[in-house]
Amino acid sequence: MNQSFFIKTYGCQMNEYDSEKLNDLLEYNGYKASKNFEESDIAILNTCHIRKKASEKLYSDLGRLSKFKENKKKLGKRMQIIVTGCVAQAEGDEILKRNKSVDYIFGPQSFHKLPKILKKSNSDKVYNDFLCENKFSSLIPSKSKEVSKLITIQEGCDKFCSFCVVPYTRGAEFSRSVENIYAETIALVKNGAKELTLLGQNVSSYESNVIKDGIRKKIRLGDLCQILSHIQGLERIRYLTSHPIDIDDNLLDQHKKNPKLMPFLHLPIQSGSDRILKKMNRKHSKTFYLSLIEKIKKIKKNMAFSSDFIVGYPGETDNDFQESLEVIEKVRFASSYSFKYSPRPGTPSSLKDSLIDCDVVDRRLKEMQSILNKHQTEFNLSFIDKTVDVLFSGKGKKPNQYVGRTPHLQPVHVLSSENLVGKLLSVKLEDLTSYSFHGRLSA
Ligand code: 5AD
Ligand code: SF4
Repeated sequence: MNQSFFIKTYGCQMNEYDSEKLNDLLEYNGYKASKNFEESDIAILNTCHIRKKASEKLYSDLGRLSKFKENKKKLGKRMQIIVTGCVAQAEGDEILKRNKSVDYIFGPQSFHKLPKILKKSNSDKVYNDFLCENKFSSLIPSKSKEVSKLITIQEGCDKFCSFCVVPYTRGAEFSRSVENIYAETIALVKNGAKELTLLGQNVSSYESNVIKDGIRKKIRLGDLCQILSHIQGLERIRYLTSHPIDIDDNLLDQHKKNPKLMPFLHLPIQSGSDRILKKMNRKHSKTFYLSLIEKIKKIKKNMAFSSDFIVGYPGETDNDFQESLEVIEKVRFASSYSFKYSPRPGTPSSLKDSLIDCDVVDRRLKEMQSILNKHQTEFNLSFIDKTVDVLFSGKGKKPNQYVGRTPHLQPVHVLSSENLVGKLLSVKLEDLTSYSFHGRLSA
């Protein structure tokens, strides 16, 4: 009988993409996906290292799983435990030392080797080299029929923000070739995909080359969006995550003239204080960020923004925190994420001792999140009674209910006796419940 596997994904959308790719590779090699760890012969934990809480989750899950593995063994059954993702890359052997029941460790650029390694029991247990190229050329076309798909086009980061593990876990910046991305997009669209989110830790630094009429041409993110938008059947393109200093005119020009490129930009600032931004090695100031937002709004009037904030970076004063709130008041983000600073091993900021008192950080985070939520609600309320395009991607929980997203990523629920999945339709937004709308199809 075929061996079964279950993948638990922690963290960001890049991990979601990797898990889907690993799932496809394993199925292609004859393994069967199961619904949970308990029913699986191979348990795979695709981990996240970005904050302490995320990586600690791995160890609590491993504790539970190793007991389960022992019990299975007593019944004469075998279970393999495999750790993939960013904790695997960062901690490698350490994981094996902390938990003896782990069989293999694969970093984010090595998971494609897993099916082969499983077939012949190997003495090497840790696989964590940094060669993205080998990974992407080993992936197989997805069979997924989902309407909205993720596609990794870039990995790694050369920015080295002082708090961030990404340059150490995902390695140096690598951009996938246009041909490779194009082929995957065609396959996805053939299967019914209508929306594509181009992923990268630093997607706005995407850069590759194509040869046209014997001449080498540099391809940036804007060019890539233009190339992909010619694919018939693909209705929407998004990208994630950008660094403010990499947003170039080539990309903004696409926002101006390419209707398939959605008017929503996730643009992390991290802090509104120049003093903290400098300590964070962010390479941009508050003024640069705010002028960029103004410039983009002039080019694309309906552009909405989201951001990431870190609260309680070492040395953050009340004044620095107020400056972050001022940026929030000025931009009025459509939505945003905010996190407590978490010292990560190996990062420059983890060596600083000017840590902020936990209660102060909690208070600041609460205050920031309540303002961000208020702005998100205000943004959403401004759409009530408006008619917008909604791309329907699935069924809702209620009978005859369908769920879709607006160009600004707002979720919308609509009742219909006809199947709406895969359709892009005009919807009048009538009601808002917390962060999602109820709407009615326009006649
Ligand atoms: N502590 C808290 N938040 C962090 N992020 C990255 N590293 C840390 C850290 N050490 C946040 C940043 C980034 C998002 C993905 O996670 O805001 O943009
Ligand atoms: Fe991390 Fe983003 Fe900074 Fe790169 S740009 S180091 S991924 S926070």
